[in-house]
Amino acid sequence: MDYQKIKEASKFIESKLSVKPELALVLGSGLGVLAEEIEDPTIISYNEIPSFPESTVSGHKGQLVVGTLEGKRVLAMQGRFHFYEGYTMQQVTFPIRVMKELGIESLIVTNAAGGINESFQPGNLMVLTDHINNMGTSPLIGPNDEQLGVRFPDMSSAYDKQYIQHAVDCAKELGLEVKSGVYVGNTGPAYETPAEVRMLRQMGGDAVGMSTVPEVIVANHAQMKVLGISCISNMAAGILDQPLTHDEVIETTDQVKQDFLQFVKKIISTLPVK
Ligand code: 6GU
Repeated sequence: MDYQKIKEASKFIESKLSVKPELALVLGSGLGVLAEEIEDPTIISYNEIPSFPESTVSGHKGQLVVGTLEGKRVLAMQGRFHFYEGYTMQQVTFPIRVMKELGIESLIVTNAAGGINESFQPGNLMVLTDHINNMGTSPLIGPNDEQLGVRFPDMSSAYDKQYIQHAVDCAKELGLEVKSGVYVGNTGPAYETPAEVRMLRQMGGDAVGMSTVPEVIVANHAQMKVLGISCISNMAAGILDQPLTHDEVIETTDQVKQDFLQFVKKIISTLPVK
């Protein structure tokens, strides 16, 4: 990972801002609506930022939205980079490096995911307690730059325990039923087969998606505190007797938007950040 490029991108973003963001958000498929709630937004298209990759999939916008949300100075990614789009792991996680360089120490990552735990239902929200990297690679492969983090980063609290408890408390206060569980990161772009879903369940997974894991690995390498939230957009293959479609993913996230917005805004309003 090229530190000069990280600095360049960070300087460019800083030049567009009058205040320093203290919290970063990565908004997944269909969840970009949260960015629309940001006050006094500065919008920076990914294309403008030196060394930033360019986003391609529908339901993803491809811009940073920086401003105030629930009294916090936030930087939101409306749309992320996926490994299945052909980006390298370094490209997928480049924005996380830039966030850290901007001085951000706290990160909320969100995604749409398929439910593997049979007690889940489409429309549920899940707080990530942990993840399984099933992508067959890591963004940290290659020479380690000690300026960015240690060679062998600890992943025993990849998702900050205090943040998990905070999210659970917020759900309780709102009277929202929120699940918690383990997210499996697969490469996609094909959804899993029923046999693969049974395997993932036996491995200890509760939900499966095609993102988040690389970003969370790099955030941990950078010693950032992470909170993860999945929107269970559908059940994974073989659990219900129906095929999976991207349309269903978009439709369900549309339906839980209100819960999602309420939940994340509540979390942000009282989240301890540096
Ligand atoms: Cl079922 N699988 C994966 N890999 N990603 C998803 C999904 C399923 N549903 C939404 N995203």
